[in-house]
Amino acid sequence: MTDKYAVIGNPIAHSKSPLIHRMFAEQTGEDISYEAVLAPLDGFSATVERLRKEGYKGCNVTVPFKFEAFKIADSYGFEVMDALESDQRADAVNTLTFLNGKIIGYNTDGIGLINDIQKNRSVELKSKRILLIGAGGAAAGVLHPLLEASQAPLVIYNRTLGNAEALQKNVTQHEKFRLISIRPVQFGGLDSEQFDVVINATSAGLTDSEIPLPPTIFASGALAYDMMYGRETPFMRFAREQRAQVADGLGMLVEQAAEAFYIWRDVRPDTAPVIAALRNR
Ligand code: ATR
Repeated sequence: MTDKYAVIGNPIAHSKSPLIHRMFAEQTGEDISYEAVLAPLDGFSATVERLRKEGYKGCNVTVPFKFEAFKIADSYGFEVMDALESDQRADAVNTLTFLNGKIIGYNTDGIGLINDIQKNRSVELKSKRILLIGAGGAAAGVLHPLLEASQAPLVIYNRTLGNAEALQKNVTQHEKFRLISIRPVQFGGLDSEQFDVVINATSAGLTDSEIPLPPTIFASGALAYDMMYGRETPFMRFAREQRAQVADGLGMLVEQAAEAFYIWRDVRPDTAPVIAALRNR
């Protein structure tokens, strides 16, 4: 019998996830269906309940429901902050599995980013100086895996200092990151420092807004990674002008999907042909 999966979001019409998962299914011979489901802004948990009743095996979750997805999960496939009851923002979840009446939550965005950088772009993150721009859900979702991969000091650079500070505080609560220096810096507060990997996790590109960065920010051979895809953002343009290696978020999108597919099906799809197919469209 065909196993049913979906991606839930609002808006959802332009999601590439159905196409990606159908390509994975075709490639691996897995008998699944995958569709995009629009949930009303106040109807995420009701939508998940409906899918569960209809026998779906799991779903992906996208904007703006990733924090709600965290809340409705019964357990998690990743480490969760101890201080859940504090006023801090909870973790984000982008993949749910429905198993024996329970909901298990995962976040595959971080591993998707790491795989795209290390595997597809051949940039090793170990000991690299990383500048993470942004302190919203997208940045929060990739920060732990980045620190695990780099094991090196990292700067969180954000328009609103308080949000960067909150993210830093959240991370330093984890025992294993306690010894790594994580420094929040407000826009305009960087001068002569250089970074090997600069990741834009803000939504500034959506409105074509510039990120204020000193032109000397990129170390020689640095990677400038924008988590957005489908458009050349001002950040990408700037990085190109400074001769950094530039990447968009399309590879991350496919890699996070591959990780979700692996969680659900225990089969690892080959991402390279899927990334190439999407680039050619
Ligand atoms: P997401 O879940 O996509 O990360 P979010 O939680 O609203 O969305 O966070 C958006 C991030 O993009 C934040 O870091 C935000 O900066 P603030 O913390 O100052 O709000 C950043 N951002 C959004 N629009 C921006 C802009 N025009 N210029 C710079 N940063 C921007």
